[in-house]
Amino acid sequence: MFTTALAQRENTQLGELPLDLFAAIQSLKKELNAVILAHYYQEPDIQDIADFIGDSLQLAKAAEKTNADAIVFAGVHFMAETAKILNPDKLVLLPDLDAGCSLADSCPADEFAAFKAAHPNHLVVSYINCSADIKAMSDIICTSSNAVKIVQQIPKEQPIIFAPDRNLGRYVMEQTGRDLLLWQGSCIVHETFSEKKIVQLKIAHPEAEAIAHPECESSVLRHASFIGSTAALLKYCQSSPTKEFIVATEPGIIHQMQKLAPDKHFIPAPPMNNCACNECPFMRLNTLEKLYWAMKNRTPEITMSEDIRLAALRPMQRMLDMSV
Ligand code: 13P
Ligand code: SF4
Repeated sequence: MFTTALAQRENTQLGELPLDLFAAIQSLKKELNAVILAHYYQEPDIQDIADFIGDSLQLAKAAEKTNADAIVFAGVHFMAETAKILNPDKLVLLPDLDAGCSLADSCPADEFAAFKAAHPNHLVVSYINCSADIKAMSDIICTSSNAVKIVQQIPKEQPIIFAPDRNLGRYVMEQTGRDLLLWQGSCIVHETFSEKKIVQLKIAHPEAEAIAHPECESSVLRHASFIGSTAALLKYCQSSPTKEFIVATEPGIIHQMQKLAPDKHFIPAPPMNNCACNECPFMRLNTLEKLYWAMKNRTPEITMSEDIRLAALRPMQRMLDMSV
């Protein structure tokens, strides 16, 4: 993982926490001329203090556009890394450097390099949930909100490697009719939902609609009346006349769903075991306290070599150009 003992030590109790953390963070924001970007899976307090909340594509676009000197990224490592790829001269802070991603970890750079070398005539489309090293080996990046649109723009005769999420890859194959060579990675959170419990919930709540993120397995996706990125799921709940939803993605998003559609009822899709494994253990490492310490101490900071950054920027830029 990404922890350096020093960064972690610096980011724990170096002094007393202020009583009003919200006010202290607002004042540090002015001091640093910082913007706080947060993903929908962050804890409610972080979502409430953020300047911008979004899905991966919206967050990448917000990072690309910001005039702030510092970006405080309340999300996971690959998201903060993406902000750094787009903003080499800005300070990019991640409250907890251990906030990784099981999907990104399922695609180690050396193994992927060998896989790519074995298929030299393939174009590489990589889901943004991957490390900067994988991005640097890719031709185009995509997110869950534009993966179908990106693949549709690639000439039909061009063979494609799709990495690292096999579930999103399979969904894109179904939507586009294209045959993709899939890297067999997955997300521990989106693979935990129980098809049986979702069916039981649908029986108990006959008026409810099931909605799902495309990182879920096809056994779950087949019960969903709408499939989309976190931002798309949120938009769908607001615009649909339905009053009750079974939500098959990380339940952090329910905070925004409830805020934007207060008259509706949201039921988190249950995991297979009686655990909280539908919560992303990486996203949940960030806390308001760690966000404060990161801003106060200006660490942990995201850094990367300029060679990797430039190589990763090219496919990122291609995605941004292809998804306007
Ligand atoms: P979105 O781009 O849909 O927000 O997905 C990010 C993610 O990590 C889902 O697990
Ligand atoms: Fe990664 Fe899954 Fe967490 Fe998203 S929910 S950040 S894909 S581990």
